Amino acid sequence: EAARRYESLRVEHRGDALWVTIDRPKAMNALAQAVVAELADLTERLAAALPALDRAASGRPAADRSMGAQPEGEWVCRAVVITGGGEKAFVAGADIREMSAMTADEAHDYSRSMQAVTERLEALPVPVIAAVNGFALGGGCELALACDFIYASANASFGQPEVSLGLVPGFGGSVRLQQRVSPAMARELILTGRRIRAEEALRIGLANRVVDDVAALAEAVDATVAEIAAQAPTAVANAKATMNAVAPLPVSDGLATEAESFRSAFTTEDSRVGRDAFLAKESAHFPGR
Ligand code: HXC
Repeated sequence: EAARRYESLRVEHRGDALWVTIDRPKAMNALAQAVVAELADLTERLAAALPALDRAASGRPAADRSMGAQPEGEWVCRAVVITGGGEKAFVAGADIREMSAMTADEAHDYSRSMQAVTERLEALPVPVIAAVNGFALGGGCELALACDFIYASANASFGQPEVSLGLVPGFGGSVRLQQRVSPAMARELILTGRRIRAEEALRIGLANRVVDDVAALAEAVDATVAEIAAQAPTAVANAKATMNAVAPLPVSDGLATEAESFRSAFTTEDSRVGRDAFLAKESAHFPGR
């Protein structure tokens, strides 16, 4: 069973989402190498279980993206939600205790292995939502940045404090923070190592929504997951893959890619069902093909 497979992760279905809780509260859910290994296993299983989208937008054939395994029913979901265990932290970053014993080459490998997890999260054919319930620092902020968007509780805080340790971001922050907020804001946060509160994260566009407490956070995420789950599965996957694909492209190339994705959407049963339902003034029941 999914929930029992891991030491430091709790994995459970809630509504149409799979909630993944990084659960090492004694160490503020720091991403020790064992946790990264579990996240690697989880994201590989998810990539294998969720129907890969055979779409031009991804730029790669489906066979390259799925693991080729049989779908495992326990992993099927319409969204993935990542949150932290305990009262205080989402994830307080890389494990500083472990890092103090690493060689530079080991640190590089640690960086690469968690970066691979973040890339796999981005490539999943369902939205990934960060439910930030406390400290999201260093690698924790970077994990949240690998999610499609961030909801936070009012007690949450964000920061890239690596410079205070003589380090630099290593799980994608240098790249993704500049994409998520303005490049100048990303520079200010990374170069000062400053910690900001949830309201400030909302103001600069790092978080999409801030709610009063952790209970309200779960409810807000549930409501958004329900909105997503009512949409055509292939279209949601296609839209995410398209946005991933066009992000680094010049406008005219991005527009061409978008048009290919639009063409692909037309080949799905979901799009036929969706258009027919609209014209019949009925609600659509999408087959997910
Ligand atoms: C290992 C950590 C930890 C971390 C907290 N702990 N963060 N252990 N790695 N990142 C441990 C503490 O050592 C302590 O263990 C316990 O969790 C509780 O933490 P406290 O500091 O006592 O709690 P509090 O005073 O409430 O402060 C919470 C905090 C603070 C603000 C989150 O712990 C903190 O600043 N943590 C480090 C945040 C950070 O610098 N993150 C960036 C890491 S670098 P004991 O045993 O004493 O109870 C990074 C690079 C990514 O992420 C790229 C790598 C390649």
